[in-house]
Amino acid sequence: MNPLDAARAAFREHFGTEPALLVRTPGRVNLIGEHTDYNGLPVLPFAIDRITAIAAAPSPEPALEAVSLGFEPPARLPLDADPAAVPEPWHRYLAAVLAVLRPAAPLQGVRLAIASDIPPASGLSSSSALSVGMLITLDALLSLGLPHGTLAELAARAERLAGAETGGMDQRVIACARERTLLRIDFLPPAMRTIPVPPGWSFVVASSGLPAPKGGTAREAYNERVVGTRIAAALLADMLGAELEDVPILGNVAAIDAAPVLVDELPARISARRAAAAAGVPLERLVTLSAGTFDPETSIPVRAYARHVLAEAERVDLACAAVEAADLPALGELLLASHASLRDDYRCSTPALDALVTAMHRAGAAGARLTGAGFGGFAVAVCEMGRESRVIEAAVRAAGGPAFAVTPSAGAGLA
Ligand code: GLA
Repeated sequence: MNPLDAARAAFREHFGTEPALLVRTPGRVNLIGEHTDYNGLPVLPFAIDRITAIAAAPSPEPALEAVSLGFEPPARLPLDADPAAVPEPWHRYLAAVLAVLRPAAPLQGVRLAIASDIPPASGLSSSSALSVGMLITLDALLSLGLPHGTLAELAARAERLAGAETGGMDQRVIACARERTLLRIDFLPPAMRTIPVPPGWSFVVASSGLPAPKGGTAREAYNERVVGTRIAAALLADMLGAELEDVPILGNVAAIDAAPVLVDELPARISARRAAAAAGVPLERLVTLSAGTFDPETSIPVRAYARHVLAEAERVDLACAAVEAADLPALGELLLASHASLRDDYRCSTPALDALVTAMHRAGAAGARLTGAGFGGFAVAVCEMGRESRVIEAAVRAAGGPAFAVTPSAGAGLA
C-alpha cells in the first residue's frame, strides 16, 4: 500500500473517523555539498519519490494525538509540551514542531496518522519529512497561510530544538523542490535555483547496512562538526583580521582569497575553550547549541574539518557547472572527491560506506558518495540510464541493501 493510502487507513482505524486532509512530504538526497549548510555555504540536493504521508483532522481535545506505522508508541502530547522534557525521540520531533509554531498562532487539538516509505535513520531525511509535513498539516488546519520557505525555516528550528544543530538544507529542499530538477541552495545571502537534470542520467541510493540516527548516536558526532567548524571560522577570522559578530561560520571567511591557504596554519586539534581564548571570542558563541551546550574541553580536529568544508563548497560550484554542461564524467569525479574528503578530512564515513561507494563505482556508476550527515546511512550514485540495475545489484552485494533508483521529485504539499 502506498504511504498516502496507508496513512488514511491508519487514521480511520485509530481514530474511527475520516481524516480532513492528507499531506505528502518527500525525502531528499543531497547530491553534493555535505556539511556545508551550517557554515552558510551552498548545497545541491533534490527531493525524491519516497514520501512521508500524514492524514490529519482537528481534534475536540486540546492535545496532539499521533500514530505512526513506523514508530511506537503512539503519541499524546499537550499543546504546550516542552520538547526537552519528552523522552521518546519521535515524540520529541512532534513536540518541537508545536514549540516553534506556538508564537505564530494559538494552537488547537489535532489528530495525525503517519506512514512513510523513506527508510528511517538513512540520511534521506525522514525526520525532516516529518517535521516539514507536520508544519504543512498544522498550517492548513489552522488556516495560517505561511509560505513554504517560512515553514522550512520553522522546521529547521524545530529539529535543532530536538537536538541536532542542523543547517537548513533538508527542510528547504523538501518544502521547495521541483520535479526533474536539482535545487542549488545558497544561505549567504539566501537564494535557491533549480537546475534541470540532463536526460539520460539516473540516480541510485543504497544502504550501508548501518543506521545513522540523527535523534540518537549520530547527534553528538554531528554537533562536534558544527562546533569544530565554528572554531575554525573564529581562528581564521582572527588570522585574517576580520571582525565576526554572532556565531562564527566558515561562510563568513570563505570568500576571502587567503582563507584556503591559511587553513594549513590552523591547529590540527584544539578545544573550544582554548580556541575562544586564542581568537578573542566569547566561548558561548562556539559551544552554545539550540538544545544544550557542547563540552568546551573536547579536543577537535579543526584543520581537517575546515579543509573539507572549504573544498566542498567549491565542488558545489563545479558540480552545478557539470550538470549544466551535461558532463556526467565530471560530476562523477566530483562525487568521488567529495566522498574521499568526507572520509579522510571530515571523518564521517564508515568502512561499509567506503566499500559501497567503491562497489557502485566499479559497477559502472560515474561517481558515488555518502549522502546526508554520514556516520552510517546511505550512499548516492549517479549513472547513465540503463545501468541502474547493475549498480543496484553491486550495492546489494556489497552492503546487503536496500538499494533503489530515485527520481528528482516535487516538494511537499497537500495531496
Ligand atoms: C544532515 C543535516 C543537514 C546537513 C547534512 C550534512 O542531513 O540535517 O542540515 O548538515 O546533515 O550535509
